[in-house]
Amino acid sequence: MTGANKGIGREVAAGLAALGLTVLVGARDRCRAGEAAAGSVAAGGDAYPPSKAALNALTVQYAKALRADGIPVNAAAPGACATDFTKDLGSAYSITRTAAQGAAVVIRLATLEGDGPTGGFFDDEGPVRW
Ligand SMILES: NC(=O)c1ccc[n+]([C@@H]2O[C@H](COP(=O)([O-])OP(=O)(O)OC[C@H]3O[C@@H](n4cnc5c(N)ncnc54)[C@H](OP(=O)(O)O)[C@@H]3O)[C@@H](O)[C@H]2O)c1
Repeated sequence: MTGANKGIGREVAAGLAALGLTVLVGARDRCRAGEAAAGSVAAGGDAYPPSKAALNALTVQYAKALRADGIPVNAAAPGACATDFTKDLGSAYSITRTAAQGAAVVIRLATLEGDGPTGGFFDDEGPVRW
């Protein structure tokens, strides 16, 4: 689990561990956290949509590559969750969920059986249009 030191990633790791799974967690060097945060502020919001478009494309690529091995690969929409990522967004954004609530869809997708959907994008309610 990347980004497992806080926010949604931490809740996903905790949720998978609570199911009895062994979870490999990854987190960046603490010393680099402040530096990285400063960098993302400088980049502004313009980099966010392309990064998610790239992630969607990767999801489809990996789903195709791993389909024959029975490994489903999907993207998750956690909804607007209260984390460090959203704490400075201001009142224009409605943050309605906890990180644990956002993690639930990721945990569900991560524990799909081999014949589950693959190459899709899901939230709590089901499939989301790309
Ligand atoms: N919160 C929401 O409402 C929401 C909604 C939709 C999608 N998402 C997505 O969910 C994911 C997690 O968000 P969050 O709200 O849980 O944010 P968060 O609490 O700020 O956590 C982000 C995590 O990602 C790590 N990270 C950030 N940049 C990284 C990099 N360049 N390399 C490696 N690790 C990096 C952070 O590590 P450090 O502690 O070292 O910075 C931290 O562990 C993000 O991809 C976000 O776009 C969030």
